[in-house]
Amino acid sequence: MNATPSSSDFILQVEHLSMKFGGLVAIGDLSFQARRGEITALIGPNGAGKTTVFNCITGFYKPTEGMITLNKRDGSTYLLERLPNHEIPARANVARTFQNIRLFSGMTLLENLLVAQHNKLMKASGYTFLGLFGFPSYRQASAESIELARHWLEKANLVDRADDPAGDLPYGAQRRLEIARAMCTGPELLCLDEPAAGLNPRESAALNELLMDIKNSTSILLIEHDMSVVMQISDHVVVLEYGRKISDGSPQTVRTDPRVIAAYLGVDDEEVQEVLVEVGDEDVIEQLDTGPDSVHGPGNSASMMVGPVSDTVEHADEGERVTVSKGASKAAQVDARAASIAGKPQSAAKPATKSSTAKAAPKKPAAKETASKPTAGKPGGRK
Ligand SMILES: Nc1ncnc2c1ncn2[C@@H]1O[C@H](COP(=O)(O)OP(=O)(O)O)[C@@H](O)[C@H]1O
Ligand SMILES: [Mg+2]
Repeated sequence: MNATPSSSDFILQVEHLSMKFGGLVAIGDLSFQARRGEITALIGPNGAGKTTVFNCITGFYKPTEGMITLNKRDGSTYLLERLPNHEIPARANVARTFQNIRLFSGMTLLENLLVAQHNKLMKASGYTFLGLFGFPSYRQASAESIELARHWLEKANLVDRADDPAGDLPYGAQRRLEIARAMCTGPELLCLDEPAAGLNPRESAALNELLMDIKNSTSILLIEHDMSVVMQISDHVVVLEYGRKISDGSPQTVRTDPRVIAAYLGVDDEEVQEVLVEVGDEDVIEQLDTGPDSVHGPGNSASMMVGPVSDTVEHADEGERVTVSKGASKAAQVDARAASIAGKPQSAAKPATKSSTAKAAPKKPAAKETASKPTAGKPGGRK
């Protein structure tokens, strides 16, 4: 059981991925792996680069550097960064949903799911109008498409509304329909961008149930902001901050990682307290007991400009002190803080987190940004 995993155990391998937009480094040297049959969550504050990672995986962006390998069940391997983007769903069998729901709101639920199978139906029609005249292969494909649509409507608990316009559905049901639509393309990897954002607890529970069901047949890569969703259903969590990976492991490992709590949960002090109480980790609570953020005012953007880096790590009597200049890049701040934490035993991490390093960590700016979009997992947070 403890044999070293081979590459075929991983549906997705991301290696040294970088994405730059002009001078802005949205992702910097990111590597992680997603295991087949698992739910891998990609989390991090707003602007951390999560959607950009998805856009690279699904071919919307061509990465500046790096390799994205998809290993299919049949043993075939695809380098996604080299595939034309329209071939990624069709050949590599990667499907995605978007941060903002994209459905045909005037079409019925069933029609939405049939449109998703358009390619299959066109192929069966021989790319001609013969399908309209009952070409046998077309009839067969058409019956199969309806059956598949019905299957996913049932799984999404939407079969009763199959003939209603998608636009009439409540928000949580629209999210599930979007996922059902992605599943109708027969993906091996399903990429979901913040599916729980703006859902109420009941809708969130229904979503979790659907995802746990999908996991039986399809690997899932999930961007999520709502920690309760991540903790409940993920097998593996990768944490990003300013385009850099700051933690990678089981939900339990990640939730008690001081860097994650400082960087990610720092967006909301109340949420930090809630999670810490839940975790019951007094040591971490103490590490985060820092003063107000003097380095990063609310006006700071979460984007990470390449610029002069003048961060320094000094060894002082009271412990290691990291100085982060205002002009330093955000990536350099993350790296400096990571170096500070990595360079000392856990118990010695306290002075560093209480220094300017720690004060740079709680993301007051991110909190402001979060407020401008639906607060994930909180009722009424939808647009
Ligand atoms: N097409 C683009 N052009 C320029 N900058 C972009 C583009 N897409 C994303 N970014 C920037 O990349 C950074 C990461 O964005 P994004 O991946 O959307 O973050 P997240 O999904 O984690 O909130 C942000 O600073 C964002 O402004
Ligand atoms: Mg995003």
